Amino acid sequence: MIPLIDMHCHLLAGLDDGPATQEEALAMCRLAYDQGTRMAAATAHQNEDYPNVTPERIRLAWDQLVRSLHDAGIPLTVFPCAEVMVHPEIESAWDEGRLLSVADQRRYLLIEMPHGCFLDLEAMVRSLVARGIRPILAHPERQEELLHEAGQIERLIEAGCLVQVNAHSIAQPRSKLDAQALKSWIKRGIVHCLGSDGHSATRRPPVMNAAYQQVLRWVGTSMADRIGSTYGMAILQGLPLRVPKPQAKSVRWFAGWWR
Ligand SMILES: [Fe+2]
Repeated sequence: MIPLIDMHCHLLAGLDDGPATQEEALAMCRLAYDQGTRMAAATAHQNEDYPNVTPERIRLAWDQLVRSLHDAGIPLTVFPCAEVMVHPEIESAWDEGRLLSVADQRRYLLIEMPHGCFLDLEAMVRSLVARGIRPILAHPERQEELLHEAGQIERLIEAGCLVQVNAHSIAQPRSKLDAQALKSWIKRGIVHCLGSDGHSATRRPPVMNAAYQQVLRWVGTSMADRIGSTYGMAILQGLPLRVPKPQAKSVRWFAGWWR
């Protein structure tokens, strides 16, 4: 099977609401590897709940995780990453070096919407792209407005944003309506990478395989491999990524419209 890339997994012990200890982090890594993941963005929240999570602390925790993986003989490759909650000063925070980019490559930034509210991110996306840092929006499928209102997510992609969907949302969608909307996103090229958003080996496990298999059933190997693997590899290496424009939503004609 193609090596799966987890673009969003809380693996840094003691930094946020992910694993509390290095042993727990290693158990997550072992599980991820057994489920087919070969590379993971070891992510920590950067938001007002975790004011002490600085790029330097993430780099140190990542370095410790790399050593522990080596000592434990777990061949999972991990990269440092932050999940940055959007806030009004995000551009100046980036300019001042207070945010950690994906894999510390200064090409992509994993961002999330503030909990429980919906903001129009287009201006912020354009502003970050103009600075040479391309945002990847984490789990936009949680936002009803993005998942179900036509044109919203497309506008962000048009502005330069990439889209990371949670594996759990695909493998176990909240409703039939969400499943249909996610299938449509995948088919239309709206989803660029997957993340487990893993937080522990049991509570929110770092598993990707079931979602990859579902994507495979929906769109076949070549697109499933781009979403589950190759786009993520490029992102983790800080390589530029040119993604196709999302296909327009097909109109379902009412069966008896012409009568
Ligand atoms: Fe997360």
